[in-house]
Amino acid sequence: MRIARDVTELIGNTPLVWLHRMAEGLHARVAGKLESFNPASSVKDRIGLAMIEAAERAGRITKDTVILEPTSGNTGIALAFVCAARGYKLVLTMPQQFENPANPEVHRRTTAEEIWRDTDGQVDIVVAGVGTGGTITGVAEAIKGRKPACKAIAVEPIESAVLTGGKPGSHGIQGIGAGFIPKVLNREIVDEVIHVGTRDAKPREEVPQVRRTRGSGELGCGDMAVEEAGLPV
Ligand SMILES: Cc1ncc(COP(=O)(O)O)c(C=O)c1O
Repeated sequence: MRIARDVTELIGNTPLVWLHRMAEGLHARVAGKLESFNPASSVKDRIGLAMIEAAERAGRITKDTVILEPTSGNTGIALAFVCAARGYKLVLTMPQQFENPANPEVHRRTTAEEIWRDTDGQVDIVVAGVGTGGTITGVAEAIKGRKPACKAIAVEPIESAVLTGGKPGSHGIQGIGAGFIPKVLNREIVDEVIHVGTRDAKPREEVPQVRRTRGSGELGCGDMAVEEAGLPV
């Protein structure tokens, strides 16, 4: 029977979809990876499970363990559902630092592999928003390992452009732009940083799911990202 052992087994293998209307008039073909198809609706499901499994393998979790994680967003949602599925206690606090190596590792092992598989290796540019930096680090390291010419474009909010030497500031783009340079981020692997303003990341009149992907800085990219990456439009 093809029935998941538990809900965590449903994480990953998210679909890629062509973004026709957003990419209208571009020479590049643009696809979005719908991380919102994960069970708790974000890319962070991957690291929620990966971090718990890494701690399990290291023998750091018993039935009395209280798992404590600094996160103010989707990582907390992901950990909550993974811990609920496994019967673990969890306390979430506000974040200070992002440095768990299981984070980029799961993107090397799963997200990058899925992109490579689903594009038949025909991926020239990956675009990802930077929160912890785990997604772009893991995906770009794994894909560039196979295809060094592939470019990695990081996206950060223009209102908090710390990766390009700016000052941290408040913005309205969920999940990215923590206001400091995260330890997990491999800056060497990033070819270019582009900025998106909160206003541009807000929903327009297109498919809601795609808008969410783009607006929240997931692997989807839109016309602006491609244009700013220097591709002909
Ligand atoms: C929905 C969403 N997309 C993207 C990101 C950023 O990904 P990363 O932390 O791997 O840089 C986050 C981070 O919280 C997020 O919640």
